[in-house]
Amino acid sequence: MLIEAQSAPALEFATSCLVLPVWQDEELAGSAAALNEKLGGLAAAVIAEDGFKAASGDTRVLYTQGAAAASRTLLLGLGKKSKFTPQKLRQAIAKGARAVRALKRADFALELPALPGLDATQAALAATEAIAIGLYTFSDFKTDEDTLGRTQIERATLLTEAAGAATEGIRHGQITAEANLRARTLVNRPSNLKWPDYLANEARKIAHEVGLGCEVWDEERIQVERMGALYGVGMGSDKPPRFIVLDYSPAGATGAPIVLVGKGMTFDTGGYSLKPSTSMEDMKDDMAGAALVLAAMWALPALKIGRRVLGIVPTAENMINGHAQRPGDIVTARNGKTIEVLNTDAEGRLILADALSYASEQKPAAIIDFATLTGAIGVALGQEAAGLFANDDALAARIQSAGERSGERVWPFPMWDEYKEHVKGTISDLKNIGQERRAGSIAGAVFLDNFVPESIPWAHLDIAAVSLIREDRPLSARGATGFGVRLALDLLGNWE
Ligand code: BES
Ligand code: MN
Ligand code: ZN
Repeated sequence: MLIEAQSAPALEFATSCLVLPVWQDEELAGSAAALNEKLGGLAAAVIAEDGFKAASGDTRVLYTQGAAAASRTLLLGLGKKSKFTPQKLRQAIAKGARAVRALKRADFALELPALPGLDATQAALAATEAIAIGLYTFSDFKTDEDTLGRTQIERATLLTEAAGAATEGIRHGQITAEANLRARTLVNRPSNLKWPDYLANEARKIAHEVGLGCEVWDEERIQVERMGALYGVGMGSDKPPRFIVLDYSPAGATGAPIVLVGKGMTFDTGGYSLKPSTSMEDMKDDMAGAALVLAAMWALPALKIGRRVLGIVPTAENMINGHAQRPGDIVTARNGKTIEVLNTDAEGRLILADALSYASEQKPAAIIDFATLTGAIGVALGQEAAGLFANDDALAARIQSAGERSGERVWPFPMWDEYKEHVKGTISDLKNIGQERRAGSIAGAVFLDNFVPESIPWAHLDIAAVSLIREDRPLSARGATGFGVRLALDLLGNWE
């Protein structure tokens, strides 16, 4: 889809659908006011009499009868200006783009209004992301896409006086949106068609495409490298585990690398601590952290991030065969700590243990891991935020700010010493579960804490509840959300 900026006056711009934003708590302004005047008050009448409240994402079609170059306009509610946030703008524009698609229009133009606290570049960035990710649907396996009746929108024009600045925002937004969609497509792909070496190949392809270093360790190397926890999780599957490292080293970069780590379970049956079938339905999503890291790494060169960034993905399939680990098995992680695997379904923390140990050896400036780690995080936060666990307040604050800016929210949890007791082992150093039905997400986090030295700023984001949704939302159709890609890119882009 082509997205571009133009500085033409909206009512003179030829398009098959002119989208005019309207605030809920303000009089009609700009082109909407001018059009209303030309139509003898029709727009105001629709607003007053037809129940159009201009709440965020509300739309109404108005035919212009020659009063504008476009034959139809779509009034698009932005909600209350007094409660404006960039995220509300994204949600409204995404809904507007879907409304245009429902009208079977292949192109539209959106008048970018003046927005509180956003310049034209930021507004265009938010609008571009909203249009591109709001229109995404996963149809790779629909053999008869036409029966879905969906029009493909081919062109969107942002109308603004600051077309130059907007063009910069559009370019940036197209990269972050594509990264988000790449992650979604990987997560949406079913697990009979993705396994650890498939992810490794995706990493290789990305490395080749955008120029990153790439190293993949197979199951033998994983053992040689003393990654006993990753190996233990992976050995119950016919599809062996992999350990993937992508390396973005821009010319002239100084300073220690930032390391992104993503949980890459290509399927999680629970192993011998088998999941009930309904809990297993969505477990193709258990590599959402990995998908996020691969997609973010893909975007770094295009965004010209100035720092070295490593993307690390431990990947395995949690299955059951004669080699699968048993509850009670003891494995040794790369940093030498022994772990009693009391529950084979708490496997994410095991593969991350080795990945975090390896990440720590790279002398990084910071480590951030993204993992679909616990069902409990959804009990705590629902699907409105990811859980944030950090050993460093400054890093936590950076991540929270990136979350607010990107609209991919995170919320902090404690990792007090008392919680750390929950995962202390009896016959081993650690056990992989905490207290029954208590503080499950924190138990996962404090377990991981054992694999990063205190001196390294580290944060863990539990994305289990936000990585996949079962009903459409403004910025994501049902299925994978790509949560965290834009947060990570915002974080890296604003590091200095
Ligand atoms: N992959 C799951 C967590 C998950 C749950 C992701 C729901 C997405 C949606 C993880 O490996 C897991 O099974 N966690 C267990 C931990 C427990 C055994 C301590 C859980 O949450 O039940
Ligand atoms: Mn599990
Ligand atoms: Zn899992």
